[in-house]
Order: sequence, then structure tokens, then C-alpha cells
Amino acid sequence: MDKLLVNGGCPLDGEVQLSGSKNATLPILIASLLCAEPLQVRNVPHLRDITTALKLLGHLGARVEFNEDLTVEVDSGDLHTLRAPYELVKTMRASILVLGPLLTRFGEAEVSLPGGCAIGSRPVDLHIRGLREMGAQVSIENGYIKASVGRGGLNGARILFDTVTVTGTENLLMAAVLARGITVLENAAREPEVVDLARCLIAMGGAIEGAGTDVITVTGVDALHGACHTVISDRIEAGTYLLAAAATRGRIRLTGYDPQHGDVVLEKLREAGAILSIDPRGVTLDMRKTQPQAVNLTTAPFPGFPTDMQAQFVLFNAVANGSSTVTETVFENRFMHVHELQRMGADIHLRGNTALIQGVTGLSGAQVMATDLRASACLVLAGLVAEGETMIDRIYHIDRGYDRIEEKLSQCGASIRRIPGWPATSVIPSREGASVSPLQS
Ligand code: EPZ
Repeated sequence: MDKLLVNGGCPLDGEVQLSGSKNATLPILIASLLCAEPLQVRNVPHLRDITTALKLLGHLGARVEFNEDLTVEVDSGDLHTLRAPYELVKTMRASILVLGPLLTRFGEAEVSLPGGCAIGSRPVDLHIRGLREMGAQVSIENGYIKASVGRGGLNGARILFDTVTVTGTENLLMAAVLARGITVLENAAREPEVVDLARCLIAMGGAIEGAGTDVITVTGVDALHGACHTVISDRIEAGTYLLAAAATRGRIRLTGYDPQHGDVVLEKLREAGAILSIDPRGVTLDMRKTQPQAVNLTTAPFPGFPTDMQAQFVLFNAVANGSSTVTETVFENRFMHVHELQRMGADIHLRGNTALIQGVTGLSGAQVMATDLRASACLVLAGLVAEGETMIDRIYHIDRGYDRIEEKLSQCGASIRRIPGWPATSVIPSREGASVSPLQS
């Protein structure tokens, strides 16, 4: 498995062009299942999760075409199966998003339960409950969700989410666009990625109002048509690079950034002492002349502080002045990066869903292991801050959500390079000549 080797201690200074949003691209690519004409998606990031989603669409029978400039065209005019298998779903939880589109267009769907992941149990009960409220018969058999609906198709319904769920909102939004009648999604997710999906569905002929608020109203239509949609930039990638510059007391300029998508993160960075300037093409952060101050935060659904930026801010607080608390309210197990940071010298104690952090003057490089996507980003930032070398293992996590991270950081002066790993099945000749398999990391 590949590793990342980071030599820390030098402030970042440079410019980064943001990629398209992973969490907007995934539902938008899957929305292509809703119509028989091609959907063209632009500004698609080059990520492992996107490759997985396209593999799944191809498995279902969609024709997938890559063009040169980050554009993908998906034509779901002639699918040959309505079953999303475990082998693909287990590698990317967002595969659950095919359930709503397949069911509403074809009247049936069979999707493997995604199962839990490192950060939490990640149930999909709200997705299933909403589809049942729209008239679907849904059963769980042998680890698969089996859903079907009568000849009339799904019926519009009033659906109240008792927990704000991003992909739950997206799944039911896609189910509703072809349902009969009006669907009202209440306590809906307000994330910019949900709004981007709604914009794409409207371009395809969907009738949707209220996206971006907690009440989304959908009037079902008979059919959607093809469209061309450009994905928004990735606000979590943006926040990660801003934090990298802030934690290393450097400067960075991000082009393609939409400040409306990152209000609360920018607010927290200002509170931490960062000098921010925003212009129509992007944002610049400068931390070269100010002492970073630790900030308290609590994660929450948008427009609250994003849980996907929690790990990065824990790192920032760990090397800022003063003490702080970071409380995680969205997922039940999203502090695994803390144990690795402690090994690098961070002064952090966990009390339930809160991290109590005392800023230290510096961290020391170490061998660390990534456990999930955003924890791995946090460890890269820790390596940039720490004195000496940090070797990060299991970086397949980071490749799921960050497009060319070592290239973009190197452009800003970071010393970071990828160490190709041994393929899992290869053997390494030992000194005695016998061959041994590398330890499975
Ligand atoms: C989306 O996950 C994102 N993924 C996550 O980003 C993000 O962390 C999360 O939203 C929260 O913002 C994509 O968009 C592909 P949820 P999602 O459903 O939709 C509970 C990343 O790093 N819940 O909003 O799976 C759930 O347990 C990833 O890019 C139910 O109880 O998250 C959690 O506590 C990680 N029942 C809370 O809701 C359900 O049916 C929020 O989860 C669904 C969710």
C-alpha cells in the first residue's frame, strides 16, 4: 500500500486551484439513472470514490464516457440490471444513492446495505422509511435492500426527517422527481451539495423548490431529459488547504472558491487570527504575522460547522495558543485522528464526544496510520506542522476524497511525496533468501 512521506516545519506559501466537490459529484452522476438521455457532468474531480461510482453505473449498464477536460457523460438509456452488488457498495457508502433513482424510474431496485464504517454505524433507516412513505415495499434480505412499487409508481408524500441526513435528502429528492404528485421533504439537509444536485435535476426537467432550506417541495413529472451540469467546487478541500496554511503559519490562495459555502469555517479562521481576503475568483489566507489562537467549535448540519472539517481543526487547535474544545455531534466515532496526534506530541483528551485540547509549541514527526478520509487529511496537516519526517500509512483513504493532494501541497512549498507500496500479494526476499510476504498493513 502506498504511503505519504512528509517533511514538516515549513510554512506553506502558494496557490491552489480547487477541484469539483466529491459530495456533489456523487449524487449528480447517479442522477443520470433518472433519465434515458445522456447527462454531461463538468468539473468532475479525479478521485477514487468517483471512479467507484462510475464503475457502479457501468455495472448497471450505463454507458460512461470521459472527455478531456474533467467532463464525464453518463447515458443510462439501456440499463441491464437494477442490482447494486455488495462488492461495489462496500467500497463506497454513497452507492446507496442509486436506490431512489432506480426505484422511481423502473419500479424496483436491489441495493446492498452499505454497512457501517470507521466513523460510525451510518444507518440508512431514514432513506428506507421515506421510500415506504412514498408507497414502496421495502424488505431487507441477506444484506440487501429489496424495494419495489406497483405499476403506478411512487406517490408524493410529506416526509419529515427526524435527523438531518445529507444522502437521505438526496435519495428521496431523486425518488420524488418522478413520483406521482407532490412530495415535501421537511427537516431536509441544506448542504450546498444538495442544492447543486437540485440545480442539476431542475436542468433535467425536475420541478423542485426550496433546495437549500429545510423544506424542499417536489412536483413529480413524467420523465426527465438529458442536461449538462458543472459541479460546484469542493468546500471541504478548500477548508483543508486553508487549515494547512493556517497551521503552518503560512499563506495560501484558493481559486474557484465560493465563500457562501464556507461561511462558518471562514468565521472560525478569522477568530483564530487569520487574515482573509475574498475576491470574485477566490480567497486568500495569511497567517504569517499572527499567532494562531485556538477556537472552540461544535459540529452541526449546514450552515453549522461541518463535521468533515472537524479533524483538521483539531490539528490546528493542537498547535495554536491556548486551550479549546471540539465537540462532534454528527457521527459517534470521529476522533480516531486524536490517538495518532497524541503520538506526535499533541495534548488532547477525549471526554465523550468532546476533545479537550491544550495547544503545544510543536509536534514531532512519526509513523502514523490513516483511518478514514478526513482523519487522513488531518495527519497530512500534522506532518506539515511537525518537526522531522512523518510517514502516513493507508493513504487509500485520502485518495478517496482529495484530488492530487501531494501535488497541490508541493506547489505551495510542502515537502511531501508518495512512497509506492508493495502490492498486497508480492513477496520480499529476506536476507536468508527465503521469501516472506509483507505484513498486511
Ligand atoms: C454525507 O454523508 C457526506 N457524504 C459525509 O461526508 C458527511 O460527513 C455527512 O453527509 C454529514 O455532513 C456524502 O455526501 C457522500 P448523513 P451521509 O446521512 O449522508 C444519521 C466525507 O468525508 N443517519 O448526513 O452518509 C447518521 O448516522 C463524508 O466526505 C441516520 O440515523 O451522512 C449520522 O449520525 C464522510 N439514519 C447523521 O444522520 C439515516 O438513514 C448524519 O448522517 C441516515 C443518517
